[in-house]
Amino acid sequence: MKFFLDTAEIDKIKKWNDLGMVDGITTNPSLIAKAGRDHEQAIKEICKMVKGPVSVEGAGTTSEEIVKESEEFATWGKNVVAKVPMTVEGLKACMALRKKGIPVNVTLVFSAAQAILAAKAGATYVSPFIGRLDDVGECGMDLIEEIVQIYANYEFETQVLVASVRSPLHVVEAGLAGAKIVTMPPDVLEKMYKHPFTDAGMEKFLADYKASKKR
Ligand code: G3P
Repeated sequence: MKFFLDTAEIDKIKKWNDLGMVDGITTNPSLIAKAGRDHEQAIKEICKMVKGPVSVEGAGTTSEEIVKESEEFATWGKNVVAKVPMTVEGLKACMALRKKGIPVNVTLVFSAAQAILAAKAGATYVSPFIGRLDDVGECGMDLIEEIVQIYANYEFETQVLVASVRSPLHVVEAGLAGAKIVTMPPDVLEKMYKHPFTDAGMEKFLADYKASKKR
């Protein structure tokens, strides 16, 4: 199971990358704005720090615009993945970029039908947004199960990159569904380490160790 971090915050990427937990990075315009960084500088820095794929998204809406900006992004680092929207123009750009050898992540996917189209367009990754589906009363994880099943049925090579992840439970459920990649905010990764019984157990063992040293 691969862990991607869904952030453009360099200090947090460094922390988890140094701990060996980062297989890749996903960014989007909102995450870059949140990090308060210049887009190009931030992406170049991330691409140097992290060995795995780094998804980069622009603001183009026509396939020509998306291809043009993605080609520029691809010059910023060897590991850049073009992130394109799940639209007619986005999938047209996906096909063109794949022909040019640029890997593509199709984003803003909210249905299995859209995920089938992304796979047929040759996407390297598909990003279903599960948290946003949960937010409107739909079950995001049902969508992951459907996509994993459909891709297996047809041996599509597109990898399911579970996005809009909000909790450790999302990560666990994505694993049970057989998704290969989960992209999560750094605080979700932090939370995965935590369990109150671990803290309580540590406290007791340390206290008993100290007591036995006095004997
Ligand atoms: O990778 C997509 C992700 O950034 C969206 O997450 O929390 O804004 O729905 P969220």
